[in-house]
Amino acid sequence: MKHFLDIHKTGPADLRAIIDQAKATKQARLGRPKAALDDELPLKDKMVALIFEKPSTRTRVSFDVGVRQMGGQTMVLSGKDMQLGHGETIADTARVLSRYVDMIMIRTFDETVLTEMAEYSDVPVINGLTDRTHPCQIMADVLTYEEHRGPIKGKKVVWCGDGNNVCASFLHAAGQFGFDLTFAGPAQLDPEEEFVGLARKAGSKVVIERDAAKAVEGADLVVTDTWVSMHDSQSSKERRHNMLRPYQVNAELMSHAKPDALFMHCLPAHREEEATSHVMDGPNSVIFDEAENRLHAQKAIMRWCAGS
Ligand code: CP
Ligand code: NVA
Repeated sequence: MKHFLDIHKTGPADLRAIIDQAKATKQARLGRPKAALDDELPLKDKMVALIFEKPSTRTRVSFDVGVRQMGGQTMVLSGKDMQLGHGETIADTARVLSRYVDMIMIRTFDETVLTEMAEYSDVPVINGLTDRTHPCQIMADVLTYEEHRGPIKGKKVVWCGDGNNVCASFLHAAGQFGFDLTFAGPAQLDPEEEFVGLARKAGSKVVIERDAAKAVEGADLVVTDTWVSMHDSQSSKERRHNMLRPYQVNAELMSHAKPDALFMHCLPAHREEEATSHVMDGPNSVIFDEAENRLHAQKAIMRWCAGS
């Protein structure tokens, strides 16, 4: 059974194969209508459940379109409309869903919902974001970086802002794909030590830096994300904004990076907060390529899970 739960739980060779598959399939359908089928249909006659316990635009639409392009069918389920949100155990939900569908993608709050779903499911489970990680996003980001600049191995990635779930998956990817990561943010919002340790153990240079301009020096890629994630309480908004304001990605900050440094943001963004529109819409920004590549990366992930 091949679940896609996290980047650090998937071997480097498999991760590389997924990225290469994504590149090839994307290339093969260039110019084809969006609803046209792929040449190969690894999800033919397969049903995929897409469960959302949090809002989503990109994850929801890209998984749905991706399954259809590979010949499968989807059902999009909202957590609150399922018995899962009303007391049925995750284990029972996983066992029941396994009788109807061939694959499950879930976006949830607590990571244990994902891991328990995987433990009791007879079909592959994919992590569509938890409070702790967002691996599909970073697979799309690696694909995006490599399309624009070639291999990401050995490059310097700088994460500015909150050491959140997306930052965590970047750290996992640093270890598995062999790039270095500098975190620039306030100590209160540092990434989890466990994840920093994992990346270092895998051979990545991970630097924690409080001075944003210093952090960005020599960067090949600068990344940021919202200052208040879906799992953060709204009452923490003002405190977070005050702490994170020095880490806004703007033209001045980008001037410290390499001239050809790319800018990424997983979206949705709060323009003029974590990043200025000047940077987001500037020539080095690849934010909409990242969004598009969710589709191609996830198709390759599903194909890998399906074993075809
Ligand atoms: N980046 C991302 O996961 O976007 P959605 O929340 O819209 O799915
Ligand atoms: N860190 C953000 C990512 C959204 C795609 C969140 O969890 O809300």
